[in-house]
Order: sequence, then C-alpha cells, then structure tokens
Amino acid sequence: MKISSTLLSRSAPKADLFVVGCFKGDKDFKTIKKTEPAFYKVAAEAVSKKRFEGKTNEVLTSFQTTYRQAPEVMLVGLGEKKDFKVASLRKTAGVLAGLANSRKALKVRVLLDSFLAEGISAAQAAVIFTETSLLATYRFNKYKTKKKDDPPKAPESVELVLEKKEELQGLRSLIVHSEKIAKAVLFARDLNNEPGNMMNAPKLAEEAKKLAKDKNLKCQIFGLEELKKKGMNGILAVNRGSVTPPALIILEYGEHYAKNGTVCIVGKGVTFDTGGISIKPSKSMEEMKYDKSGAITVVATMALVSDLKLPLHIVGLAPTVENNVANDPQRPGDIIKMYNGKTVEVMNTDAEGRLILADALSYCEEFKPDAIIDLATLTGMCHHTFGDKTCGILGTDQKLIDTIRDAGEKVGERCWQLPLWDEYGECIKSHHSDLQNVGDGYAGTITATMFLKEFVPAGIPWVHLDIAGMANCSQNRFDCPKGATGFGVRLFAEVLSNWSSENLSKPK
Ligand code: BES
Ligand code: MN
Ligand code: ZN
Repeated sequence: MKISSTLLSRSAPKADLFVVGCFKGDKDFKTIKKTEPAFYKVAAEAVSKKRFEGKTNEVLTSFQTTYRQAPEVMLVGLGEKKDFKVASLRKTAGVLAGLANSRKALKVRVLLDSFLAEGISAAQAAVIFTETSLLATYRFNKYKTKKKDDPPKAPESVELVLEKKEELQGLRSLIVHSEKIAKAVLFARDLNNEPGNMMNAPKLAEEAKKLAKDKNLKCQIFGLEELKKKGMNGILAVNRGSVTPPALIILEYGEHYAKNGTVCIVGKGVTFDTGGISIKPSKSMEEMKYDKSGAITVVATMALVSDLKLPLHIVGLAPTVENNVANDPQRPGDIIKMYNGKTVEVMNTDAEGRLILADALSYCEEFKPDAIIDLATLTGMCHHTFGDKTCGILGTDQKLIDTIRDAGEKVGERCWQLPLWDEYGECIKSHHSDLQNVGDGYAGTITATMFLKEFVPAGIPWVHLDIAGMANCSQNRFDCPKGATGFGVRLFAEVLSNWSSENLSKPK
C-alpha cells in the first residue's frame, strides 16, 4: 500500500473513493461545496432529511461517474467534535480501511482536513491514517489455499489530501516514519502468527540472523552447547521437555552510540507453552503459540531501530525455548542453579517464562546498560486483571515507568502500573533453595515480577511489561484481525526514539 500526502486539487486524476469526515451537526460542508458540488447537493439533502447526522461510523456513500475526486464519495460520521480524540480517529481510520475494501476501492483519497479536531493536528492525523491503514488491512493467509479470483484485500494507495499548503509541510517524512513502524508491527505479527510446528528456537534464530545481515545488526546466537557452557540453566531447564534445541538470540545495534545511552530490551520467547509436566488444560491451549510474542517484538524492534537509524546503543535479547512434556522434561520440585548463581525450586513447570527471562536479564550486565526493559506474556493473572485493554507495567525506576506509560498512551499501547513492594517477595522464598518459581497463588503478576527482580543486575533501572492479554486478540479488532497484534513494537519505537537519560530517576 502506497501512502502519500498532497494538496487537494480539482484537476487531480480521479481516485476510486473519496472519503470525507463529518462531525455531528456539521452543515456547511464548505470544502465539499467547492470541490465536489454535485455530491454537496446529495449530502445537504441527506442531512436535511436526517438520513445522515454524522453519528460515529455512520456512512453515506454516493456513486456518480461525474464526481470530480472519485466516482464514489463517502461521508463518514465522526460523532461530536468535542469528543473526537486520537483514539477515535484510530478507530475511524481502521473502519475506513475495511470500508474501502468492501467498496472494492483500490485508490482511496482522504480529505484529511475533515478529520481534524482539538488535539488532532494534520501531522497526527497523517501518522494515524498511515499506521492504521497498514495495520488494519493486514492478513495472515500464508497457510490458506488460494482461490483464484480472491478480491484484493487492501487498497493499493491512500492519498491524504489537504487544503492548505502549510499543513503539508513535514508530512512526507512523518508518513515514511510511520510506514517503517507499521511494517515492523506487521513483521512481528507474521512471525508470531506462525504456529508451534513452524516456528521454534532454531527457526527464530535463523530469522534473526537474516535480519542482522539485512539491517546491519550484530547477531549472537547461543545454542545448546553455549548455554550449557555459560550455565544458563533457567533456559536449559525449561527446554528439557523439547527435542528442539533452545537459543538465546542477541541482536545489537549502534554500539558506537553508547555515549548516548545503552538500552537492553528482553522478550520472552516460548514458541509453545504446554505448561510442561504441570500441563495446561486443553481449552484455548492453541493460543500458547503466542507465548513467543515478547521475543518477536524484540526481534522486530531491532529491525526497526536500524531502519529508523536511532542514535542509541540498543541490545535485544530473546531467550527462546519450547515448554513441552516429551524428551526428558523438568519435574516439579527440581532445583536449578541459574546463570547468576541463585538456586530455584521449580514448583510449577508452567511458570517457565520467568525462568528463561531470569537468565537473559542477568546476562544484560555484559552490555552495561543504562536501563533494561523486558516484555513477556508472563501471567494469565495479568490477562484476567486487565483484559485486552492494557498491559501491566512494573519496575524499579518510577521515571522510566512514567515515560513508558506516557509513550503507550500516545501510541495507543497502554500500560497500567502495579506495585512492586518488597512484601510481595516473601512468598517466592523457598524452603530448599533461594527462590521458588511461583508465589502463594495471589497477586500472580506481581510475584512473577518479584521473581524477575532477583535476576536483574544490581543498580540498573529496570521495567517489566506483562503483555499477556495484549499479544494476540481473540476476535477481529478495528486495527488487527484475530491473532497476533505485534504489541510493543510501537511502544518501543516511541520510547527508544525519544530516549534520554533524563527519563531515568538517577541519570548516570
Ligand atoms: N504463558 C503463560 C501465561 C499466559 C496465560 C499468557 C494466558 C497468556 C494467556 C505462562 O507461562 C503461565 O503459564 N503462567 C502461569 C503461572 C502460574 C503457574 C504461576 C499462569 O499464569 O497460570
Ligand atoms: Mn506457562
Ligand atoms: Zn508461558
């Protein structure tokens, strides 16, 4: 899909569909009157007869080959102008992408001016239309046998047109920037929608290597032998139930920017989570193919930061395993010695994410980072608490938490904080070892994070995102079909693009 911005012109070649936003109560339609007088009559008539009132997602389309901008003009209701927020525009843009499809429009022209409101500038609207058009038209059809005359699934082009020249300024580069971000999200969705029989640790490692070559990243893969040598027994123990070897994937970007800061991003990569010997119930277990979301968000983000040429040293770590029950699996009660030397009693093999993340978090010390951010589909409890509206955010640096939360608000990937008080650490102490991998059954998201905290190198600001509930959607959504969402890529892009040591409570 090609996205562009131009000046509204009466002589431009026709598109297939011309889309105009309309707030509730709008009556004068000045721009339409000027540019599309024939449609203006239709619209004015519809409004006067209350056949179109501008309610949210209300649609009026009219087809006449004599129209100037496109043979089909669509008026889309935006509701009350005072209530129209960035989130509303996202939804509208997503719905419009679907509507354009159903109208079989290949060339779509959008009158961007008509979607602006207080707090939504032309620049913001351009970003949202670009991102959402790409995200909403994404499909994962790879494993479907193609029917010959399948209609095209997405418009070929979206033209964002503006009336005033001044507003066009800078839009081009914003569109290019947003396209890069959206493409990284789609890449993450593609990898994450792959099922467990197709995507495993060696395959993801291959993807990472390919990416490293394309994007000029440094790539290290620790396979079975290397992990053994290093004593990364958290990763090894979880993978014992699988015949497929594990991997710790490390991608590194911009070492020479270390003077501006070094950030480690770490993602949980469980390519399938059966629960292990503490096996999961079979209902919805197929969704556990998304338990690799964190790792994939990290890999996709590493590709993106290279595309965006961010002036920052960024290291992505993705511990990747399969939590299975064959081979020679770990047992409940097993005691393992982790990479940082602490011992853990494995009370429940289904609490595996924290075991693999623990080793990766400890290993971050090698890169002397200013901060560590990890994301993981860590606890079902987080999904239960927040549903699919926000991820959980917890950590040791309040300023960094605030920065990430604000970034999430801006890009539409919300984070809501849970406390990380020392008292929550009591229940992960073990009788026979230093720690146990589950708490007392309460506050599961917090106790899981308390466990991770034990493995974060001392003194390094750290934030954890529990993305269970956000990594995949169980129903079609305005900006994403059922399946992987690519959650976290936009959030990371925003946080890393605006990185500053000022975002930390104690800047180095
Ligand atoms: N991958 C799951 C968490 C999960 C559950 C993510 C549902 C998305 C949707 C994780 O490995 C897990 O199984 N956690 C357990 C922890 C428990 C055994 C302490 C859980 O949440 O039940
Ligand atoms: Mn599990
Ligand atoms: Zn898991």
